[in-house]
Amino acid sequence: MHTIFPNWPIQSPQFINDPYPFYRERREISPIGQTRAGPWCLTGYDVIEKVLRHPDIGVHKAQHGLVDENSSIRHLSERWVIFCDPPVHTRIRRLVGQSFHRLVKEEAKSIITEVLDNLLTEFENKREIEFINEFAYPLPLYVILKLIGVPAEDWARVTEWVKPLAVMIDPYVSTPYSFEQIETAASSLNDYLTLLTDNKRKQPSQDVISHLTHDKNNGDQLSTEDLISNISFLLFAGHETTVNLLGNGLYAALKDQTHWKYLVHSPEKIPLAVEELLRYDSPIQLTIKRALKDIKIGGCAISAGSELRLFLGAANRDPDHFENPEQLMLDRSPNPHLAFGKGDHSCMGTTLARLEGKMAFEMLVQNFPKMELIESAPPRKIGLNLRGLARLPLSLGR
Ligand code: HEM
Repeated sequence: MHTIFPNWPIQSPQFINDPYPFYRERREISPIGQTRAGPWCLTGYDVIEKVLRHPDIGVHKAQHGLVDENSSIRHLSERWVIFCDPPVHTRIRRLVGQSFHRLVKEEAKSIITEVLDNLLTEFENKREIEFINEFAYPLPLYVILKLIGVPAEDWARVTEWVKPLAVMIDPYVSTPYSFEQIETAASSLNDYLTLLTDNKRKQPSQDVISHLTHDKNNGDQLSTEDLISNISFLLFAGHETTVNLLGNGLYAALKDQTHWKYLVHSPEKIPLAVEELLRYDSPIQLTIKRALKDIKIGGCAISAGSELRLFLGAANRDPDHFENPEQLMLDRSPNPHLAFGKGDHSCMGTTLARLEGKMAFEMLVQNFPKMELIESAPPRKIGLNLRGLARLPLSLGR
């Protein structure tokens, strides 16, 4: 069996606004097939899960081939945990994970509370807000900057350097940055983090960088280069995705007010609802992998070196795993969605993302029970891996 798919209109407004009918149509033909251009396209849950757990599947540095070997962006992203195969991956993940998870456990709740309190104060005299820029963006951004240990006076410039990093993850993102701007951002971030790491070595505090420079795991420690590279990735991964969980999630919940009323009256169901919002309109729709050897998936022979495009957003709507997959069911349980991936590269920020989602929705239903959409179809950002809204104007209902 070998299906050849025609090209998808991935840059078209129809696809960007609602890729789900495209996914469904393709999955019904075959959950796995080859595109005319060569890469494999996977839309079925079982085949995607199998690939994510397969020992002969490796990372695919889609963007690395496009930038100069000596460029600053290539240098900064080369050792990102997401771009490494074992054994390098195993070691970096273990060392970064040890310090990061400890900080999340000890500090995340109080940092999120502080940021949410500040946002609430800012909204005190407002009747309307633009949710993406005024809430969904600052919340995870300030949380990750603080957890990592970036001093507040540097937040604005560090944010500007982190934004262009998205081009390394999403080959389809429409970036407003020129290559020169991306280079300047990458080298400025690299220089800044080198200095900051040096300072934290001498004067540690309660943050991820300080822990990474001092913690050891069986005598092992990250080199400064690996540390800086992966801090830059955490800064990026820690906010772009969660912005889209909050934006896509709130939009879906408010679109039909019965969902919103349900959350207002049953706030104890919010953790379950966050899982469904992650499934229903997943912040990361696509991840790309590479076959390290000749393998067989879903009856298809895939040769070593082939590119595999895994549409997580499609797996999360697969009727073989989710009853009425096109429906938002906030009390869905069990909910084995793949929004955080699976296997060796599964998301390292699940605890933090879930906590931010839970605390944000709790604060919103408690303070703004009559919140409503102002635009019924707010515009989407252009991109394929990352799916999110460009803006979400809301009435706070007061
Ligand atoms: C709703 C929010 C989030 C979603 C939907 C999400 C989703 C994902 C997915 C799908 C992957 C796997 C990608 C692949 O296999 O190619 C991933 C990996 C990763 N995520 Fe997240 N993520 C979120 C939030 C976060 C946060 C808050 C952090 C940490 C600050 C984070 C850190 C990471 C890291 C470090 C990896 C790479 C792990 C590895 O390669 O071993 N993520 N994430």
